[in-house]
Amino acid sequence: MTAEPTTTQTGTPVPSDDHSLTSGTEGATALHDRYLVEKLAQFNRERIPERIVHAKGGGAFGTFEVTDDVSMYTRAAVFQPGAVTETLQRFSSVAGEQGSPDTWRDVRGFSVKFYTDEGNYDIVGNNTPVFFIRDGIKFPDFIHSQKRLPGSGLRDANMQWDFWTLSPESAHQVTYLMGDRGLPRSWREMPGFGSHTYQWINAAGERFWVKYHFTSNQGNVEMGGSEAELIAGADADYYRRDLYEAIEAGNFPSWDVHVQVMPYEDGKTYRFNPFDITKVWPHADYPLIKVGTHTLNRNPENFFAEIEQAAFSPANTVPGIDISPDKMLMARVFSYPDAQRYRVGTNYNQIPVNAPKSPVNNYSQDGSARHGFNATTAPVYAPNSLGGPVADAAAAGAGSWESDGELVRAAAKLRSDDSDFGQAGTLYREVFDDAAKARFLETITGAVSGVTRPEVRERAIWYWTSVDAELGASLRANLATGGAETVDGEAEYVGVAE
Ligand code: HEM
Repeated sequence: MTAEPTTTQTGTPVPSDDHSLTSGTEGATALHDRYLVEKLAQFNRERIPERIVHAKGGGAFGTFEVTDDVSMYTRAAVFQPGAVTETLQRFSSVAGEQGSPDTWRDVRGFSVKFYTDEGNYDIVGNNTPVFFIRDGIKFPDFIHSQKRLPGSGLRDANMQWDFWTLSPESAHQVTYLMGDRGLPRSWREMPGFGSHTYQWINAAGERFWVKYHFTSNQGNVEMGGSEAELIAGADADYYRRDLYEAIEAGNFPSWDVHVQVMPYEDGKTYRFNPFDITKVWPHADYPLIKVGTHTLNRNPENFFAEIEQAAFSPANTVPGIDISPDKMLMARVFSYPDAQRYRVGTNYNQIPVNAPKSPVNNYSQDGSARHGFNATTAPVYAPNSLGGPVADAAAAGAGSWESDGELVRAAAKLRSDDSDFGQAGTLYREVFDDAAKARFLETITGAVSGVTRPEVRERAIWYWTSVDAELGASLRANLATGGAETVDGEAEYVGVAE
């Protein structure tokens, strides 16, 4: 077979892939070797900025199939009975950089893009149903505290625990993270959650509040702290490899998708703020309702083009689905497209992995790396009398909620059952069994042992005492004796993403 000639980026055959143009065999390299220059210049620009958070990850394409009827709650085409939709999913770790080990203890990202007939719908969630903070204005501070010190470039337990203990709304998520669920055995064997409360709107215009749950059909399987540390050293790409190999072998992982549905009016009177992402809704009050099944069945052909450039955003909603008055969610709706214009480029939504399968009609134009464009005969402004696209509120199917308060900077009003530590305590006391409680104590002892500032250590003991008095006392005793022993007797240090 005769190979195709190598060409420049503009399609001209090149004279050599092995030798630069030089003045004689030993002489200076000519600057006008335009293929050499193009090759080196292109190479220098291969990297784009990594995601500011969730930099390390992996993903695959799949299919979402509706199995049950939730049309009484939403008109969204993607959730109508029998609908089958192509998807892209990306999993990730939050704090580590691109090359960081998959098995460092951390929250795992769980993002799904549904290429629906009504535009792209993204659920950008995690493997935990709650989050560390409840107002987006704290997010950059939170992330700074989990990443690296500017001077030494090192992670630092002092700042992690200083932030957490001064932000007690973090207790529920930190309890989740330091428990067994903080170390899933694989991305396939962990659940996913939309975490926030979202809004669904049905064909009659009735509104509901919903929370998404993705239940792994592979089961929820975790690994121990020592095992995770060993794997972190031996195979930094452990989760990425596991997912890729499972799909290559035809062993397609799947998740059943459920929602909890809260009637719109309940949102006003429920015993705690249902828009607070640090809380879960008890299943006894709002049971899981099955929607369908999501299956991953195709690996990317090119990791960079299809996973690295993928842009997921909570701002990508479709008719019949909207956001809620969750302050975190409203901040995210701004933050993601802004990050992606910078990280991938202004026209990131024209890249095949991000482009919707449904038509795009609007008046946006130009910008760097523009690929698609409107016909020259199309009007460039609205309103116009030339037959250009016209906005249609009914087709948009957007949600809404009442909001007639004064503009303020204040926490949401506390309801009877609102507290920072209540659900964290319930998780620790009622969900963890004795063995899980023992492992949990070891993990937090190890993590707090890394704190060298005495006042932060003391605040950490207060924090865990507020979650559970006995737990706080055991932590104090453990720290006084110089740290915990693990189950197998080895000293263990487990910090978040350490
Ligand atoms: C106000 C709070 C938050 C802000 C400002 C924020 C901001 C960001 C930004 C800028 C990115 C990178 C986007 C990109 O470059 O493509 C990102 C990624 C991500 N965030 Fe957040 N985030 C917030 C809270 C959350 C919460 C609560 C969750 C989960 C419930 C979450 C889950 C994710 C995931 C899964 C990714 C990775 C998306 C992917 O796979 O590409 N974030 N976040």
